[in-house]
Amino acid sequence: MPIPTLQNAHIAIIGLGYVGLPLAVAFSKAYPTIGFDIDKSRIDELDSAFDSTQQVSSQDLQNCTNLSFTHKLSQITKANIYIICVPTPITENKTPNLSALLHASELVGKVLQKGNIVIYESTTYPTCTENECKNALEKSSNLVFNTDFYLGYSPERINPSDSSHTLTQIQKITSGSTQEVATFIDSLYGSIITAGTFCVSSIKTAEMTKIIENAQRDLNIAFINEMYMICDVLQIDALEVLEAAKTKWNFLPFTPGLVGGHCISVDPYYLTHKLNSIGYHPQVISSGRLINDTMPHFIAHKIIKLMLQSDIEILNAKVLILGITFKQNCPDIRNSKVPIVKKELESFGVRVSVYDPMADKQEVQKMYHISLLDELPLAYFDCIFLAVAHDKLLCLNRKKLGKVKSVYYTLTSHKLDS
Ligand SMILES: NC(=O)c1ccc[n+]([C@@H]2O[C@H](COP(=O)([O-])OP(=O)(O)OC[C@H]3O[C@@H](n4cnc5c(N)ncnc54)[C@H](O)[C@@H]3O)[C@@H](O)[C@H]2O)c1
Repeated sequence: MPIPTLQNAHIAIIGLGYVGLPLAVAFSKAYPTIGFDIDKSRIDELDSAFDSTQQVSSQDLQNCTNLSFTHKLSQITKANIYIICVPTPITENKTPNLSALLHASELVGKVLQKGNIVIYESTTYPTCTENECKNALEKSSNLVFNTDFYLGYSPERINPSDSSHTLTQIQKITSGSTQEVATFIDSLYGSIITAGTFCVSSIKTAEMTKIIENAQRDLNIAFINEMYMICDVLQIDALEVLEAAKTKWNFLPFTPGLVGGHCISVDPYYLTHKLNSIGYHPQVISSGRLINDTMPHFIAHKIIKLMLQSDIEILNAKVLILGITFKQNCPDIRNSKVPIVKKELESFGVRVSVYDPMADKQEVQKMYHISLLDELPLAYFDCIFLAVAHDKLLCLNRKKLGKVKSVYYTLTSHKLDS
């Protein structure tokens, strides 16, 4: 079955979140592109040229004349290339939750035509695309894989809120289910990615590449987090140690912190799930996860200790947590570890308030049942914990926020204005 060419490529992006929307915008500059999302409210906001994820400006959305948005499956049937960018979270038991991925595959299967290519950008474990996703596509389309339709995998590497590493400036891994398809997919991405592409020999190689990039980052942070906890026991200033160690040319300058979000704190579980299913029980990856999942508890205990050392009565002490999103200058609140810190502090009888000017108040209420402060009261708190160093928080005056003997705590070198 002939596959599409660059001349007749017609692209449908499935899932218009942090990954899908910038991709749709980039592809629409070269090819007719349609963005599909099951969330009608997302389509409505994009139709009014507003992106609540803050990845694409209104001006850029208005300039995309070759891009339209829909929540209706019947409107994406002209596409011959489908690119799936839906969430791949974990369940409460920390196993892959493939429901969105399989649902999106099933939807695409309903409109799939002979010769079409389906490319996955969602992060998943090696073999998932050519097993679980392929099965869902075959079942709902009644077409045969690698005879009637083809697959590709091109993991996304964007880093939201990082303006120097945007989609087209990051080299893109590509792969396809046959050599011809891989070459085509590589040329398709190569036509929009200025940083170039790197075509690998199989889809599972591309899946594994993405997963280990994030697992490595998780481990590097875990090492620094463990070092931070060890320094605490030894009564050594961990941040000073890091500053000193960074003066060596090959020391990797990671910083301690809460590892949240839907990538670094999630992807290693996709890999361990796959490995466990074949009887291999990874030690290093799992230890890193364990350390990083311990951090919220460590931080809460540290805050309690600091307040005790400052002679602050713990019962009913007022703690202000600044920041709840999973990273600085980004509105994404998924898998935030701040609610765990809050809960742990509350178990000591502490009263905790949270303020984050980047986060959507209603979303936080819905996801975590936490009412964010609208604005900050003055001279009020016994402890201020800067959890996320948003630019908008760094200009706050900590002396005006705290009581006279208040404690200020952060894992970074960021100081609030004083
Ligand atoms: N956000 C990042 O920084 C980032 C970076 C690299 C990789 N990834 C990976 O990319 C994938 C997407 O992540 P994201 O951050 O863009 O997610 P997101 O939650 O921001 O967006 C996903 C979108 O998909 C839509 N959706 C859900 N189910 C759907 C379905 N069945 N059909 C159509 N649309 C559906 C949702 O309504 C939502 O708008 C995930 O696998 C993630 O791990 C994310």
